[in-house]
Amino acid sequence: MTFYDRITHWYLINKRDLPWRKTSDPYAIWLSEIMLQQTRVAQGLPYFERFISTFPTVFDLAKADEEQVLKLWQGLGYYSRARNMHKTAQIVVIEFEGVFPSTYKELLLLKGVGEYTAAAIASFSFNEKVNVVDGNVFRVIARYLNITTDISSATAKKEFAALANELMENRDSALFNQAIMEFGALQCVPK
Ligand code: ADE
Repeated sequence: MTFYDRITHWYLINKRDLPWRKTSDPYAIWLSEIMLQQTRVAQGLPYFERFISTFPTVFDLAKADEEQVLKLWQGLGYYSRARNMHKTAQIVVIEFEGVFPSTYKELLLLKGVGEYTAAAIASFSFNEKVNVVDGNVFRVIARYLNITTDISSATAKKEFAALANELMENRDSALFNQAIMEFGALQCVPK
C-alpha cells in the first residue's frame, strides 16, 4: 500500500465529523478555513455554526453590518480576519456576482486568502490537484520521510509542497489534503 492508500484509509475510519467536510460549497469552506486560522477546531466549530446559520450565503454576509459580523466573531480574536472576511464577501458579490473563483490562482487574489486557504478551497470545492501545506502537513511528511529541513526556511514550503504532491499520486486531492491534515491533528501530533 502506498502512503496515499494508507493515509486516506486511516482518514475514512478516524475522521472527525465536521460540518465543512459535508459540503463542497466554496463559501462554506472559505468561511471555515478563515475561522480556523489561529483557532482550534473545538473552539472554531460553534462560531462556524453560528456564522453559517446567520449568513447562509455570501450574499447574506456581504450585506450584513460590520458591527453584526464583529459581534458574532467576538471571542475568536484577530478581528482583522473578520473585517477582511466581510470585505472579501462584498468583493465576491460585487465583482464576481457571488460566485467564488474556482481556481487556486484566482482564489489567491482574494483579500485574506493566502496559499494555504487557496489550496484548501481549490481542492475541497473544485478538486484541483493542489496541496495544502500547513503545520500538520510539514510534520507528517517530515516524520514519514525523515526530513530535517527547518520549516521556517525560505525554501521549506516549496520543498514540502513538492513532496506532498508526489505522495498524492495525482489522485483525489480533497480526500488526500483532508486526510493528511487530520492525521497531523489527531495522530502525528507535535512532541
Ligand atoms: N483546520 C484547518 N482547516 C481544517 C480542516 N479543513 N479540517 C480540520 N481542521 C482544520
